[in-house]
Amino acid sequence: DVSEVEQRASTGALPGWSQVDELLHEAHRRYAGLDEGTVADYIPVLAEADPSLFGLSLVETDGGAHHAGDAQTAFSIQSISKAFVFALVCDEIGHELVHERVGVNNTGLPFNSVIALELNDGSPMNPMVNAGAIATTGLVAGGSLEERWERIRSGLSRFAGRELALDHEVLRSESETNHRNQAIARLLQSYGRLDDDPADVVDLYTRQCSLAVTAEDLAVMGATLADGGVNPITGDQVVSAEVSRDTLAVLASCGMYERSGEWLYEIGLPAKSGVTGGIVAIVPGKGAIGAYAPRLDPAGNSVRGQRACAFLSRALGLNLF
Ligand code: DON
Repeated sequence: DVSEVEQRASTGALPGWSQVDELLHEAHRRYAGLDEGTVADYIPVLAEADPSLFGLSLVETDGGAHHAGDAQTAFSIQSISKAFVFALVCDEIGHELVHERVGVNNTGLPFNSVIALELNDGSPMNPMVNAGAIATTGLVAGGSLEERWERIRSGLSRFAGRELALDHEVLRSESETNHRNQAIARLLQSYGRLDDDPADVVDLYTRQCSLAVTAEDLAVMGATLADGGVNPITGDQVVSAEVSRDTLAVLASCGMYERSGEWLYEIGLPAKSGVTGGIVAIVPGKGAIGAYAPRLDPAGNSVRGQRACAFLSRALGLNLF
């Protein structure tokens, strides 16, 4: 389905950033009727999400903000938290240690794979799958569980430029059913990859996944990584430019799970998805797209969100390659 806009883009006649509002609304119109995919239900409360919700937001590094549809609707951030906790940990312990303790290569397997750990001698391989994210959260510095939680919550809030809060219903539902993540944490411990109590680390990880955000928040958080770690709305330097670069490299190779190659091939941007249907796609130096639509494909990526990002990447000429 090659539209007029896409044709213009492919011939190099880009409509440009001046038309970003119009194109965001066009992306919303095109895919709002797309009903492929299913809402995640392995965390019971997530099954109640309204599948018709669809929000798009694009925030530029100069602070310009554009929205279409349900861009201010709250949902739990889920796996997208992995990108930002990774950045915070990288900022604390450095490039080398993160590489050694967590890794930066794609597993080629689903996000909650246990066998990926076994196949790789206990290395979680990368911070964007559950095993690697749990190992990364285990590296968050600082005292008691509550102190470490506050570091994570306030760090992610600085990325968003506002105080983020827990969705307690999601936290309760996921805490009651996250046996697989508990098993992954125990397995990591058995390989000497987790220094703290596995139950505590899974608790922290489950809390970080239960923070409520909107598509607009995702766009601001992504634009912070696009802007060398500086939040374009608050001006706060949240992480260093080097850490932003490292995080984007990991998102390019691992952010869309085992579909990361296809995503990069079609869309050409570092990105991260989550099972509630959020996607953040980062355009280095320019800004970021935040998308929210709960229906997912089999890998756990939002169907409408992927299509909207593909359209915007082509129409705005965002593909990095
Ligand atoms: O640990 C889990 O399974 C969820 N808290 C997050 C998973 C997730 O978002 C994967 N996304 N596609």
